[in-house]
Amino acid sequence: MRKPDLRYGNVAWKAVSSESFMAYPMATVYVDIAKRLGLNFDATIRLLSHMPSFLSNQAHKESRRRLAQRISEAKQTQETNVSEVIGGVIDKIDECGGSFDVLETVSEPVWIAISTALCPQAPAIPQAAVSVPELFNPYTSIRRRLVINDEIENILCQHDNSALDALALLSLGFRPLTGTIALSMHHLASKHSGRRLSQITYPSTFPVSALSFVDRIAQSDGSVTEEGFNRGQRYRCVIFDESYQQADNDRNIYGLGGHVCLGRSISQYMWNALCEGLMTCNTTIAPGTLQIGSTEPFTVPTTCKLHLSYD
Ligand code: HEM
Repeated sequence: MRKPDLRYGNVAWKAVSSESFMAYPMATVYVDIAKRLGLNFDATIRLLSHMPSFLSNQAHKESRRRLAQRISEAKQTQETNVSEVIGGVIDKIDECGGSFDVLETVSEPVWIAISTALCPQAPAIPQAAVSVPELFNPYTSIRRRLVINDEIENILCQHDNSALDALALLSLGFRPLTGTIALSMHHLASKHSGRRLSQITYPSTFPVSALSFVDRIAQSDGSVTEEGFNRGQRYRCVIFDESYQQADNDRNIYGLGGHVCLGRSISQYMWNALCEGLMTCNTTIAPGTLQIGSTEPFTVPTTCKLHLSYD
């Protein structure tokens, strides 16, 4: 697969939603690795061939429709679960003085609330969805990829085809959601350090994203805005960036065009509920330690702490 060419702003936004570009076909990367190294990645290839992010045209439409249906059937349960978790988070923030662990206290419980609503019968699937995103990272070792392949294979042996959809959906949601929550709360604490939570004006959506770029491959020679591209050229489209206008980031955080995020509604529901709750807290906020892991294509914190006090 060709190395990506970075593109920003208008060119990136246009390319992402243009029919001249297709999604990055991640399954073919594993077909190549399997052939080159003589290894078995069948389960991984099967799963990646079910993930809308890596599919184009008719295959994409079909997979997206199935996943959208699963989300819509569980909408009520997702919202009830999220409201309950956010209520608990706000109580903790109100009670907590000192260090506050965002990953443990907010990101993880929200993820459990959503993933169990989307896949109530099989706890092994949400668990595997935590590992699967490592398969998208070009720096993950072959040994680790094989372990994850085994994990997927175990699930596929024990469940019917709908397990593939559930795993595909959760694997695409886990890191963007948990990372974006943590980065956004830390950003708020940095921007409003020393302020009471009740005195902050909250942004209408997450101010930072854990998924700032997506890859697309040109299906033919052509041009986007004024720029020419060649068939097979791989664009790394930066859809969200701190150099962009806030209105552009607010509009594009969940992507653009046919691949726009299927978890948008529940993620936005969660953000609104969180901000409504934070507005009622008199606690003062400040940033603590933030460490980012090596998790391409996602920017995901491994540590994310805030300081809360009643000053
Ligand atoms: C704040 C949280 C989230 C952010 C910032 C986010 C961001 C994105 C972005 C930018 C895309 C477009 C990728 C592309 O164009 O190739 C996307 C796609 C997707 N997201 Fe999210 N996401 C979030 C939460 C979730 C959640 C919670 C789920 C599921 C439970 C989810 C499921 C998906 C799926 C299935 C796709 C693929 C859609 C397609 O290719 O047709 N996302 N997300």
